Amino acid sequence: MTGPRLHLITPRGFGAEVSGVPPTLELDSATFRAVEDAWYRHSILVFRELSMTPEQHIAFTRRLGPLHIMVPPDFNLEGHPEVFVVGNAEEGGKAIGLRRAGMGFHSDGEDKAIPNAGSFLHGVQVPPEGGDTLFADMYAAWDALPESTKTQLAGRRARFSRVQLHHVHYPHLPALTEEQKRERPDVWHPIARRHPRTGRTALYIGRWAVEIEGIPREEGRELIASLCAFAQRPDFVYRHRWLPGDAVLWDNRCTQHCATPFDEERYTRRMHRTTLEGEAPLLAETAPRAV
Ligand code: OGA
Ligand code: MN
Repeated sequence: MTGPRLHLITPRGFGAEVSGVPPTLELDSATFRAVEDAWYRHSILVFRELSMTPEQHIAFTRRLGPLHIMVPPDFNLEGHPEVFVVGNAEEGGKAIGLRRAGMGFHSDGEDKAIPNAGSFLHGVQVPPEGGDTLFADMYAAWDALPESTKTQLAGRRARFSRVQLHHVHYPHLPALTEEQKRERPDVWHPIARRHPRTGRTALYIGRWAVEIEGIPREEGRELIASLCAFAQRPDFVYRHRWLPGDAVLWDNRCTQHCATPFDEERYTRRMHRTTLEGEAPLLAETAPRAV
């Protein structure tokens, strides 16, 4: 029996491209298990030349865990609420996707009490230039932090705030209503996050983080900025240049991603995303903080 073939996409083994699987991702159970194992090992899987219907996209993702349905449902695909549409595509003069989603390194749902475990983004229509997605390896970022920083962060949580930063990250969207603000209260997550499946520790921080527990506000903001910059160093980052039919499966618990711009006047970008339900982030055991 021949299983899926894996081809590393970075020298460190962060990310792998999977070939030798059907373009519908209808996999027998042994092949599915091999793909799932590869996902946990490499954190990001790239598939090429897929031709998945929304049903097949949903069915494959559901084998990895329960699906999350995005709220508000404004950009969920008609008839398939499990598929969230990203990009500037329109139908009948109406936007069907969230424009300029994810400009700035983040992991999906980091601003929610239960962030999303994983996401699977399918490039249905992609521009011939621009619109790449960057991915950062947050296991590698944690491992490479100076010991003094790990000690400083040990046991601490960060506050993530949609309310405070919505206008910064989505300046082209309407401000949050009072009701939306109540629905998206600030949340605190451990900065050293233990992956529930691999047991490895990842640096868990992102563009919605605003404060670090036990550290004065301004100092905390600076530390967050420096941790984010550290994780974006080129040796931790893979740049995905989309071709039509590509799909990328990422693990939000140990990676971050960032959209990049493209010429929205000239080109249409239409991405379909399924999203996995997650769990409350676990605090990793780290060396205790000095008192
Ligand atoms: C997302 C996201 C980035 C992109 O779908 O969660 O952040 O490049 N997308 O479309
Ligand atoms: Mn995202």
